[in-house]
Amino acid sequence: MNVTLSPWSTDDDEALAAAVRDSPDLAVQLGDEALGTPEAARSYIERYLGHDEGTITFAIRVDGTAVGHVALSHIERRHDTAWASYWVSASRRGHGLASRALATVAAYAFETLGLFRLELGHRVNNPASCRVASAAGFSAEGIQRAKLRYGSNRYHVETHARLASDPAPALALVPLLREAVPVR
Ligand SMILES: CC(C)(COP(=O)(O)OP(=O)(O)OC[C@H]1O[C@@H](n2cnc3c(N)ncnc32)[C@H](O)[C@@H]1OP(=O)(O)O)[C@@H](O)C(=O)NCCC(=O)NCCS
Repeated sequence: MNVTLSPWSTDDDEALAAAVRDSPDLAVQLGDEALGTPEAARSYIERYLGHDEGTITFAIRVDGTAVGHVALSHIERRHDTAWASYWVSASRRGHGLASRALATVAAYAFETLGLFRLELGHRVNNPASCRVASAAGFSAEGIQRAKLRYGSNRYHVETHARLASDPAPALALVPLLREAVPVR
């Protein structure tokens, strides 16, 4: 299994549509958009999966095919902080893809972008995401009550963070192909 991270491309439209069809639980993650067709997926990639000063996104690829996503958003240079997020297509879960991708992006954020603190949050009923955060070296910092609303339900969220000065986890990082990524 050859795992890499590289920027999303509109050529990933079929792969994104397939991942969404494969993973009903991604709907909330992707803003409840209907992305099951390549046309809709392409539009989503153009609108949301690019790069700018505040956001860097990567496809998690297995043998070149996009099967997941890891991103840094809300990149803030006053305090050198950012927010991390990730997902993996349902049929590809349980093989360490998210943990390794998150650890790789964290190393990139600290070593190349010069960020100091990365944060993320998961609903407290999402133990897999909690495992990913911990495996990638993000310590739990506390519960924010009813922070997120999906449909008519609100969810408590556990915040995790990793600092540049924290020890790196013992995880094998994956190659990160940086073309098109703005480096400070
Ligand atoms: C969370 C998610 C990204 C994990 O992706 P993944 O590639 O399977 O993650 P990994 O294989 O690196 O690690 C998953 C860990 O969760 C554990 N896990 C999976 N399901 C679990 C469950 N129901 N309860 C407890 N642990 C669980 C696995 O055992 C593994 O832990 P381990 O390494 O200690 O064995 C994936 O499930 C997903 O995309 N979910 C929907 C979107 C989402 O929740 N994104 C995160 C939002 S904060």
